[in-house]
Amino acid sequence: MDLFLMFYLHRNIINSKVDEQFETLLANGANHRDVLMEYYSNTTIKHIVLMERDANREVIITDQQGEILGISEINAELIDQVKPYLVGLQTDKDKVLVSDWHDSPYIVSAHPYDINTGQSGYVIMLSSTISIHEMVADLSLHFAIAGVTSFIVLFIVYAVLSKVITRPLIRMKEATEKLSEGDFQVRLSVSSKDELGELAGSIQKLANDLERLKSERNEFLASIAHELSTPLTYLIGYSKVMSRGNLTEQERQQYLEIIVEESNRMKELMKNLLDLAKMDENSFTVKKAFFAARPFFEGIHKLIEPSFAMKNMKLTLLCEGEYQLFADALRLEQIVINLLDNALNYSDEQSEVILQVSQNEEKTIISVMDSGIGIPANEIAFIFEKLYRVEKSRSRAFGGSGIGLSVVKELVEAHGGTIEVKSKRGKGSTFTITI
Ligand SMILES: Nc1ncnc2c1ncn2[C@@H]1O[C@H](COP(=O)(O)OP(=O)(O)OP(=O)(O)O)[C@@H](O)[C@H]1O
Ligand SMILES: [Mg+2]
Repeated sequence: MDLFLMFYLHRNIINSKVDEQFETLLANGANHRDVLMEYYSNTTIKHIVLMERDANREVIITDQQGEILGISEINAELIDQVKPYLVGLQTDKDKVLVSDWHDSPYIVSAHPYDINTGQSGYVIMLSSTISIHEMVADLSLHFAIAGVTSFIVLFIVYAVLSKVITRPLIRMKEATEKLSEGDFQVRLSVSSKDELGELAGSIQKLANDLERLKSERNEFLASIAHELSTPLTYLIGYSKVMSRGNLTEQERQQYLEIIVEESNRMKELMKNLLDLAKMDENSFTVKKAFFAARPFFEGIHKLIEPSFAMKNMKLTLLCEGEYQLFADALRLEQIVINLLDNALNYSDEQSEVILQVSQNEEKTIISVMDSGIGIPANEIAFIFEKLYRVEKSRSRAFGGSGIGLSVVKELVEAHGGTIEVKSKRGKGSTFTITI
């Protein structure tokens, strides 16, 4: 494309330069002819001839017989060249006689003059084609230099572009291929700040996230396996003991209770895991509707209070105004019960738990306050993670599996709400939900 353009330009420039030469030649010839016609005399002929002596142009003035009246350079070769054109020359207009600047040493034009019947003839102009050839050679050299330079520049641009664009792209392609094969150990250098740099950054982030998810998943599976194996050990152990027979009725009752308790714990765990799985798949939906707050919370209070009573604890509901809630009632109940369940589990006997509901502009604020064992400050950040339990042994003793709060958090967020915790070790905790 470039070559074609340059060739075209070259051609055009040469043509216009050559045209220029012809125009000058014709203009000069016409000029001489006009002077000759105005002041026809031998002196005028001499002057005209003299004027062209030094230039690389020549002039010949002929009479009606074709005899030469004046010539700017007495040159046999030149006369021989022109002679054939002069024989039988018949034109009453200015005319180019020789236009072939390629092969001929001169380009030639003829300009007829006519003073009176006895005095007519031609002013013949000749211009050496050497200057045209020189000009063409000069131009070709310039074009060759420009061509080579542009080729070199193009090559450099190509090299730079391939370094700046292609190489990072190839590296990213390799990185994504590695990712799709399950190898997340990808290191991309993110040096530039442009779109390519951003893309590399995103791929790196994706790789890091996938790596993190992979290890999280492994940890998660390990925790679940551990969670399930503990109750199973109890179930198998006590079933074996019971199958041996020779047990007192009291022992039998005790073992059965343990079996039921552990089975329930497994069932609870399964239910929570299923909920989590659904949330991860985004296959559960929150169906929001308006409903009155007070009856809703009173219902929960009624449901849960017996558990508190069994531990000699008090559950107080503070819900003053007639609020309307806009939420998924079933999910909200799950949220509140989970929080109350924690407050119950992680508090000492005789203590009080307060469930407070209030409204702030458009939002409803639900807090669960206990004065239980609290959460160490350095662990607060983790309690919403799946299967995270503060001091594993401690909540094992309380029967927790570390899923409740992660379910709560997902549900609250699915409602477009937020959850906050304030806790002091040994003093108690407050969980506040804004929905
Ligand atoms: N009100 C609270 N007071 C003190 N510690 C709490 C309280 N709520 C939660 N925690 C701590 O946070 C951890 C995570 O709570 P989460 O509800 O997720 O799990 P869990 O109660 O152990 O098990 P699950 O609720 O799944 O049966 C708990 O193990 C517990 O140590
Ligand atoms: Mg819990």
